[in-house]
Amino acid sequence: MYVLGIETSCDETSLSVVNKRRVLSNTVWSSLNLHAEFGGVIPEIASRQHLKSLSFVFSRSLEKAGIGKKKIDLISVVSSPGLIGSLLVGINFARALGYALGLPVIEIDHLKAHLFAAFLNNRSRINVPSLGLVVSGGHTELYWMQGFENVRVLGRTRDDAAGEALDKVGRLYGLGYPAGPLIDKLFDLSLVNKRLFEIKGLRHTLDFSFSGIKTKAGYMYKQRNGRFSKEEKIGILSSFQYGIVSHIIEKINSALSQYKVRRIICGGGVAANFFLRQSLIELCRRKKLRLFLPDIAYCSDNGSSAAGLGFYMYNMSKGLGNNNQ
Ligand code: KG4
Ligand code: ZN
Repeated sequence: MYVLGIETSCDETSLSVVNKRRVLSNTVWSSLNLHAEFGGVIPEIASRQHLKSLSFVFSRSLEKAGIGKKKIDLISVVSSPGLIGSLLVGINFARALGYALGLPVIEIDHLKAHLFAAFLNNRSRINVPSLGLVVSGGHTELYWMQGFENVRVLGRTRDDAAGEALDKVGRLYGLGYPAGPLIDKLFDLSLVNKRLFEIKGLRHTLDFSFSGIKTKAGYMYKQRNGRFSKEEKIGILSSFQYGIVSHIIEKINSALSQYKVRRIICGGGVAANFFLRQSLIELCRRKKLRLFLPDIAYCSDNGSSAAGLGFYMYNMSKGLGNNNQ
């Protein structure tokens, strides 16, 4: 079954073709360069760029997959959460295409799609009690889940998302946008001060909070008028990333002491972070849990995850079972 996945929730126009869970094409067209000078995504620019690029990204995606549009069996589109103007462009494209080709259109959840990324290109069973973690530029959330139709939120950020905090602090310290991947690259554990950005509040819940350490990083910058040696700057940014990852790991540990699960599923742009990935691998090794991490290519917003999840949800809605591979 060929599924076309459409993702336009933020600045990426991504259309992909997935056959069951095997990715045949993953075409991503980003308007990121147009937002960089503003230090964040400008919604109006993002939706206009989706309008411009959807048609050719669609053609390119089919070409790469080696199929014509008549071969598509199902269209899956991300419908929320995200920038409303951008989402509407994708949803209307999906509905118009579905109408023209006489195909079913399924609308799916952006955050669940991030988690489904870990099941692309493999045949692992899905319906197993798991802890889900979405870490992206807009969200940081922890879930108990059994399959993708039975998902309960255990905790979420009360202020900034992890990626948002990394982007804002990185920008202040002179890195480009988005700063998350740049901080990841310059991260140096030997320069980390583990106490500097320790997050002490919210011990009694599974909610996250990153704004306190973000503000602290801002004060430190002001105090020194932004004058730091290169090594000092790397030390501060590495400590900041360390603080964020430690907070995430602490929350996962608390959740594991309360919920019996056999594995952890992680997704979202920040799931590409090397230190976070290493920390999750280490945690799962110690706790004897299975870890599901997407390939780096499927961490950020992409149509393949949308297609994979759409196929799964469609089969569930038709009573065709939930471990379809
Ligand atoms: O999932 P995503 O593409 O979009 C949202 O749904 O928000 O995530 C984008 C976020 C940005 O904040 C970006 O800085 C962050 O993911 N990000 C990273 C890395 N790659 C992307 N953060 C840390 N390390 C990375 N390697
Ligand atoms: Zn996303």
